[in-house]
Amino acid sequence: MATEETLVLVKPDGVARGLTGDILARIEAKGYALVDIRLVEPDRDRLAAHYAEHEGKPFYEPLLEFMMSGPSVAIRLAGNRVIEGFRSLAGTTDPTTAAPGTIRGDFGRDWGLKVQQNLVHGSDSTESASRELSIWFA
Ligand code: TYD
Ligand code: MG
Repeated sequence: MATEETLVLVKPDGVARGLTGDILARIEAKGYALVDIRLVEPDRDRLAAHYAEHEGKPFYEPLLEFMMSGPSVAIRLAGNRVIEGFRSLAGTTDPTTAAPGTIRGDFGRDWGLKVQQNLVHGSDSTESASRELSIWFA
């Protein structure tokens, strides 16, 4: 059993739209364990650390602005191959084309849409998970 931990964020759009419960229900139905959970209003420094790999890209500034627009729910999540498994639950980055049955595919809006409004974040590797967990659960 490859038990891992990952960082999941319910982003400001998910919290503001009242979808935290629906998203947690999918995570719990899958059998993943909530190790820690908290509401966070991240400042720019925390977000710059979290999104360091994207600095300089055209979507970077709008992404940070969006992530500062309201609280996110940060979750330390554990389970067998949970890093890959949660990204599978989340769906692909752009909610417009994310598959039905995924969080982004089912709840992502295709009107007035900005790609950053894709409801959730999930770490993409063991290295990212460990780095990101230390940023959000310092
Ligand atoms: P990325 O790490 O590529 O996606 P994922 O969240 O699926 O791992 O990008 C980080 C976030 O940046 C993504 O969730 C939404 C935003 N983003 C944009 O706004 N525009 C883009 O073109 C991309 C690639 C990402
Ligand atoms: Mg990513």
